[in-house]
Amino acid sequence: MIVFDNVYFQYEPEGIEALCGVSLTVEDGEHVAVVGPNGCGKTTLIRHINALFTPSKGSVTINGYDTQDAGRRNEIRQMIGMVFQNPDHQIVGMTVEEDCAFGPENLRLPTGEIRERVAEALDRVGIAGLAGRNIETLSGGEKRLAAIAGILAMRPRYIALDEPTAFLDPVSARLVLEMIDKLHSDGVGIIHITHNMAEAAGTERIIVMNKGSVYFEGTPQVIFRNVDKLKTIGISLPQITELLIRLRESGLPVRTDIGDMDGAVSEIKGLINK
Ligand SMILES: Nc1ncnc2c1ncn2[C@@H]1O[C@H](COP(=O)(O)OP(=O)(O)O)[C@@H](O)[C@H]1O
Ligand SMILES: [Mg+2]
Repeated sequence: MIVFDNVYFQYEPEGIEALCGVSLTVEDGEHVAVVGPNGCGKTTLIRHINALFTPSKGSVTINGYDTQDAGRRNEIRQMIGMVFQNPDHQIVGMTVEEDCAFGPENLRLPTGEIRERVAEALDRVGIAGLAGRNIETLSGGEKRLAAIAGILAMRPRYIALDEPTAFLDPVSARLVLEMIDKLHSDGVGIIHITHNMAEAAGTERIIVMNKGSVYFEGTPQVIFRNVDKLKTIGISLPQITELLIRLRESGLPVRTDIGDMDGAVSEIKGLINK
């Protein structure tokens, strides 16, 4: 379990607080979205999860280990895989295979096991065919999948992803989202940072941040029942939710607390079949 208890963080001693009193928990195996407007502290928050940053006040504990405890950082970093917003920032190898092997090599695993883990990880994200390719020749979507494979080769309990579909075309974005869903169904806990409410709608719980703290949280249904609260802080709604709201305003008795395509389809179908 990941626990943030009243976490404060400042980049500069006299600067503004990028996090001011964040408390939240993420259970094992949960798929949580963290959303919020630009600059609200999402990236700062995710960097606390694997002890890249530690709180100036309050605490972050990962399965009982405090991130301030330098002696536990290796264990923490093995438990939590991080996928940064820009995949170029985490490329360390020339080829896809070499890059993927970097994590397990750092764990000083035997060569045979490293090979096995790399092959398995590339296969899991569907890029086994790219193993020998120079990373620089990959598309943005392939690079993102390669970054996820590198994390999987470490066999983490949780994966934290910062805007995993940023800079991707819609087809690659869909592939990455399907991959995240698959990891979640394999039992990996997912912390999914996004400013896209349509992406967040597909998770189990949404934590909405604003100005460095948790603004409100709940299941997607609870969040989409409070669209006025989202609009107040400048978060745009999925088009599908806007459509349901417009249909309701035009007199159709549809629910509007829906952010995902499947939910909207069954709502509209139910209406037609009445
Ligand atoms: N390296 C930095 N130095 C100083 N301030 C920063 C730095 N990175 C982010 N900030 C500030 O911290 C706040 C939170 O930023 P960030 O966590 O990047 O938000 P988000 O990811 O939600 O867009 C913003 O006010 C931002 O300007
Ligand atoms: Mg960010």
